[in-house]
Amino acid sequence: MTRAIGRLATLAALLGACGPMEPPVGNDSGVAMDTGTTPVDSGPPPDVVLPPSDGGVLPTVAAPLFVRSITFNNMMVMLGTVAAVTDNAGTSAFFGSMGMRLLRSGALLASNAEITTWRAAATVPAVLGTGTWTIAVDAMGRVHRVRPDNLFEFVGDRYGVAGMSVRWVAHGGMNYVGFASDTHLSIADGMNTRRVMEGPFTAFGASNNFFAGVSTDRVKVLDAATGRLRTWNLPGATAVAVDAMGKLVVSAGPVLWVEGAEGVLQGVFRASAPITSMIRSGPRVWFVSGRELGTYAMGRVSMTSNTMLEMNSTLSPASMDEVWVLSRAAPRRYAADTGTQTPEAIWRATMQPVYATYCADCHFPGMGGQLPDLSTYMGWDANRMRIRNSVVNMMAPVMPPRGMFPMEQRTAVDMWLMMR
Ligand code: HEC
Repeated sequence: MTRAIGRLATLAALLGACGPMEPPVGNDSGVAMDTGTTPVDSGPPPDVVLPPSDGGVLPTVAAPLFVRSITFNNMMVMLGTVAAVTDNAGTSAFFGSMGMRLLRSGALLASNAEITTWRAAATVPAVLGTGTWTIAVDAMGRVHRVRPDNLFEFVGDRYGVAGMSVRWVAHGGMNYVGFASDTHLSIADGMNTRRVMEGPFTAFGASNNFFAGVSTDRVKVLDAATGRLRTWNLPGATAVAVDAMGKLVVSAGPVLWVEGAEGVLQGVFRASAPITSMIRSGPRVWFVSGRELGTYAMGRVSMTSNTMLEMNSTLSPASMDEVWVLSRAAPRRYAADTGTQTPEAIWRATMQPVYATYCADCHFPGMGGQLPDLSTYMGWDANRMRIRNSVVNMMAPVMPPRGMFPMEQRTAVDMWLMMR
């Protein structure tokens, strides 16, 4: 697995830290104003990059992804159905049907049930002074910040989006905070608010000063530092993110597309289920495909097997390169396990359950057991070739010889075999 990820994160931090500074413009009251009545769209024509082909024959098997479920709610605090979550300096803020609930070190720190329907939330640079704010968008599309006393304060006017029905908000690097409605995306930089992209949009992503929006047939990416807008035609686009290097990653149905050289979108992977949610957290872009989690990092696609997410789960970035998974059930938090595991631990996590369910009836150790003995890691490691032939390639003798063996399980065995 990828040890180099730590280095990539450092590089990304470095790139972020020395990006171009925008000169402050006009108005130094610190209060943002909507100065961008002319959308960038209607200015110089954006680069329209040719539509990609259908991706052709793409890999359908990803490298195995191991995730650890992170405990964040030791005291089992009721959170209700959570619509949005943010992390800010060790405190997680959950916005949902029970209002806002703040957890710190696994326990309830504070709550505010004044508003119980929410659309979005983010940790963003404060408009005035230094530090960060936790802001959240209610069901009417109004933007509130959480004050130090945990009361809500309406801040839409401070960001120049008071009249906008906001659906999505994110910090996109530097001082850039993006606010999207059903029809357009505006970016506030602490001084001004510019209307930069025209929708309609169904999903957004932001990172490294880039803001991306997708509608059903196209993807737009704005470089907030230069104002350059690019558009790709991509029928069926579903989810989008900007990776740690500032490159576009976008899905259309089950296919994952990545911005390659010269800005050309390249298909890199075809998942078995549509990709429905995508975010960047640290060095990885995380996505949901069916009930599994996937990552894209350093040109490599990895996917879990057996994570069993709720259907239609959505992702939100968490601190420490982790990811929040939101659904109608309780929120979950995961971290990628980056290769500190022994081969045997990996086998126990991935293949032992397969063995127990599908092989143990016959391939047990000792008297009456069919050889090879597959009850241990050693048994599997010593028979890799034969397992590949019989289980993955389904060559005689095909294993298991009878009964159901779902295709996902064959794929899981394939992924395990590929790890070495
Ligand atoms: C119903 C009993 C049964 C089950 C269940 C079963 N096997 Fe087998 N397996 C056999 C028998 C019988 C043979 C010997 C077949 C032969 O040599 O023709 C065999 C042989 C094999 C071999 C050696 C193949 C070769 O090239 O000689 C492998 C590897 C193997 N099984 C793997 C598995 C795996 C992995 C599973 C579970 C996913 C599994 N088997 C489930 C009965 C079973």
